[in-house]
Amino acid sequence: MKHNISFFTVFIIALLGFSSLAEAKGNWKKGRIYYRMVCTECHIEQAGGAISPAEKTKAEWRDYFERNLHGPQDASAKYAASYFVSREYRESIKDTNRAAKKMLKIPEDKLLEDVKAFVDHTAKDSDQPSRCE
Ligand code: HEC
Repeated sequence: MKHNISFFTVFIIALLGFSSLAEAKGNWKKGRIYYRMVCTECHIEQAGGAISPAEKTKAEWRDYFERNLHGPQDASAKYAASYFVSREYRESIKDTNRAAKKMLKIPEDKLLEDVKAFVDHTAKDSDQPSRCE
């Protein structure tokens, strides 16, 4: 009996592992640190408050990164959504932002995947929508 349970546990863990791989390839925990300490810090200062990942569904976040426009989704957007994970941007704030400094060496594509994984993980239709990121 004991044997069956542990086999079952391993099977479930493997399943969970596969499904989370299928969901997103980035590291959502790294993405969360960056989102909270870089994206949210600026949103509080300049966008009138934090923008929660739970404000959008997974599909809306995918669209957002596909269009690659930050802020207003039209010609008035000043930056690409990916600009705020770029090394250039991290470099520009590293003296005042600890996360940007610590994560300076991470390649831009990799960090973008981490942030995508985080918003996917806590989106409106995820298992754990986060309210106050
Ligand atoms: C330097 C400041 C700053 C940084 C850094 C920043 N944002 Fe923003 N963000 C804003 C401002 C200001 C707005 C409000 C809209 C506007 O004026 O562009 C905004 C709006 C948004 C919106 C709302 C757009 C919508 O759908 O209505 C999203 C989503 C967003 N930011 C995502 C991010 C993500 C993800 C990051 C980090 C990778 C990030 N932002 C980093 C300043 C920033």
